Amino acid sequence: MSHPLHKIALAAILGFCTAVPIGIFATHYTAAQDNLTNSESAILQTLDGDQIYNHINTLSKTPRVAGTKQEDAAATYIKKQFESYGYKTELQSFTFTDYTKPHTVELTLNHVTKSVKPLAFEFSVNGYATGEVISAGLGTVDELQNLDVVGKIVLLKRGGISFVEKARNASSKGAVGVIIYNNDDKKIFGSLGAENKIHVPAVLLTKAEGVVLENLIINKPGTKATIKIVGAQSKSNISQNVIATKKPSSLNKTAKNDVVVISSHYDSVEGAPGANDNASGTAMTIELARVLKTIPTDTEIRFISFGAEEAGLVGSTHYVESLSKNEISRIVANFNLDMVGSKDSGELVLQTVDDKPNLVTELAQEASKKLNGQATPFTQGDSSDHVPFANAGIPAALFIHSPPEPWYHQPQDTIDKISKTKLQDVAEIVSVAVWNLVRIDSQVK
Ligand code: BES
Ligand code: ZN
Repeated sequence: MSHPLHKIALAAILGFCTAVPIGIFATHYTAAQDNLTNSESAILQTLDGDQIYNHINTLSKTPRVAGTKQEDAAATYIKKQFESYGYKTELQSFTFTDYTKPHTVELTLNHVTKSVKPLAFEFSVNGYATGEVISAGLGTVDELQNLDVVGKIVLLKRGGISFVEKARNASSKGAVGVIIYNNDDKKIFGSLGAENKIHVPAVLLTKAEGVVLENLIINKPGTKATIKIVGAQSKSNISQNVIATKKPSSLNKTAKNDVVVISSHYDSVEGAPGANDNASGTAMTIELARVLKTIPTDTEIRFISFGAEEAGLVGSTHYVESLSKNEISRIVANFNLDMVGSKDSGELVLQTVDDKPNLVTELAQEASKKLNGQATPFTQGDSSDHVPFANAGIPAALFIHSPPEPWYHQPQDTIDKISKTKLQDVAEIVSVAVWNLVRIDSQVK
């Protein structure tokens, strides 16, 4: 939806231009926009897509990898913007494990001349392991119980239990290395979750490679393998969340102590300037803070930009874990904005962890129906900072365009790929949805 329409609608609502026959306006705005209340129109009038675009431009000059000076500089910028609107802000710092991938990952087999190109699991230790390969199904405790795996390399299939459980089950029985292969043809990234106590090298193979290896050890029992992983590094690092708080207004007569969290992450992956992932959501959080600053509400609003999302949702997990049970129960909704402005992505969707509607998706659907005549669809998704909120029982949803653009996590994720129309659209839906939750005497609660 474009700006001029709001302006006309607002002018009509406020009774400007009363001398102009109503019929003239009727040709300008749609039935859907007729439904907007005065307050909604006023909010939309204030929203400025150019400001969002300009913040993205500033933030996306360089990558903002967690724990680097550039991530830190982005935090300072975000804090400054919040403060320029009069917000009280807080920098909440936390430590996380910064993992550097190994430069060498090799798997060699003594009956095979063709080289296999395995991936090392994230957080696998470095090491050189040699031993007979033994297959142990999915690697459950039961499957490993009666197998002698001491000094051997255990071959396991993905599925049933997590990668880290498989690796732990094998290494605790004395295996010197672990090979896990995929159970479908989609490319995956394997992680052992975090720095851990599994001190044997672990590699990931494709499904096809795994099947070849299973057959090989059936046909040639005693086949030996060697795994070599060199150059992986784990070190402790520091990142921070930037938090601005808007307390309920003094007009408040119906205080329920409720809190709404509008969030985004401001870090990026290495090599990617992250204009869309996620300077876009960060810039939108800043703009929503500006727009909502002076509006009377009966609900506290927290605008939070999280650090170290790309390192495994670390900032948002730290934030939610730092809250008491009572504080968690006060949070009634999390609107999480991530990748909200690429020209080259698909349509807006709302993603929930459990694939079910909740207060956030319902409000966003109501808002999108009002604004565009169509309810934004929702799908399942658990790859961003709404996850720790959802896991804590808080209604939460991710606002994202799907499918993602080809530049996702690439050096080409730059400002020239940003669409002001998409930014404006998402910001309108989120601001109307949030407004209907925080307004005084809201019917929604
Ligand atoms: N913005 C992405 C999430 C995303 C990308 C969701 C494309 C849906 C489609 C986010 O920053 C990200 O990259 N997340 C990681 C997972 C996270 C736990 C490190 C991912 O999806 O690999
Ligand atoms: Zn992201």
